[in-house]
Amino acid sequence: MIQRVKNTIQVNSSQNNEDKHYECKICKDEEWIYIKDEYGVYSSAKPCKCREAKLYKRIIENSGITDAFLQKSLDNYKPTTKNTHIALKTAQDYINNYEAIKSTKNNSIAFLGQVGSGKTHLSIAIANELMKQNIGVRYMQYREDLTRIKQVANNEQNYADEINKFKNPIVLLIDDLYKGAIGRGQYGQYLNDADKRAVFEIINYRYFKGMPIIISSECDLDTLLELDEGIGSRILEMCKGHIVEIKGIENNYRLRA
Ligand SMILES: Nc1ncnc2c1ncn2[C@@H]1O[C@H](COP(=O)(O)OP(=O)(O)OP(=O)(O)O)[C@@H](O)[C@H]1O
Ligand SMILES: [Mg+2]
Ligand SMILES: [Zn+2]
Repeated sequence: MIQRVKNTIQVNSSQNNEDKHYECKICKDEEWIYIKDEYGVYSSAKPCKCREAKLYKRIIENSGITDAFLQKSLDNYKPTTKNTHIALKTAQDYINNYEAIKSTKNNSIAFLGQVGSGKTHLSIAIANELMKQNIGVRYMQYREDLTRIKQVANNEQNYADEINKFKNPIVLLIDDLYKGAIGRGQYGQYLNDADKRAVFEIINYRYFKGMPIIISSECDLDTLLELDEGIGSRILEMCKGHIVEIKGIENNYRLRA
């Protein structure tokens, strides 16, 4: 009887191994690569390159972004206007050229302007494409994540820990940059100091290290520069060649007939 049980276990497990389709063939979805020493004994392990992508996938899945958004792709973005055609084309070019531009100074992309025009849709579609290639993309829901950062601003270590989550990822997606951070005073719009400090630290770091960002924001280019020239001009340079400015209510997909 014991032998019979053993046999079935073996058959089942070998079948599983052969049938299983691994997302990552390098580590067989273990996320770690085990290294043998000179005696053939497993002595150490290093994280597989797919690990970061999987980690961020879990973050995006837990970020409150709906399942529907996780299905967003360039294929299910249907441009309805000239502006949205350009937006899609720019997103496609970015994905197609990513390998070639990722180490250049202009390796980032921005979708700016009109509410409801698909800025988040296209940003997430790009993230989904990159993550399919096991490139880690950290999703930052601007308003929520900034609130968390600001809550720990009076503790240096906790603050640094929170900020580092957005400094270090291979690619950072900032969704709705400056949402909830803009005030209106007698001299026009202004950005609150706490947001300015945090965003500058993250953007400046990534700017110097040449690490890509994907940005969606209701602000147009002029507003980004007006709110903070230091941050705005860095974003401009990083996104050069892939800046999509969508203007006009006819681009609001939510209001289409
Ligand atoms: N051209 C399009 N084809 C298909 N779906 C679209 C298109 N544009 C927008 N959508 C859908 O419309 C909804 C609104 O788009 P999205 O949230 O990406 O807009 P947004 O520009 O980020 O708006 P907001 O400024 O309010 O954040 C989403 O469900 C998105 O998938
Ligand atoms: Mg959005
Ligand atoms: Zn792997």
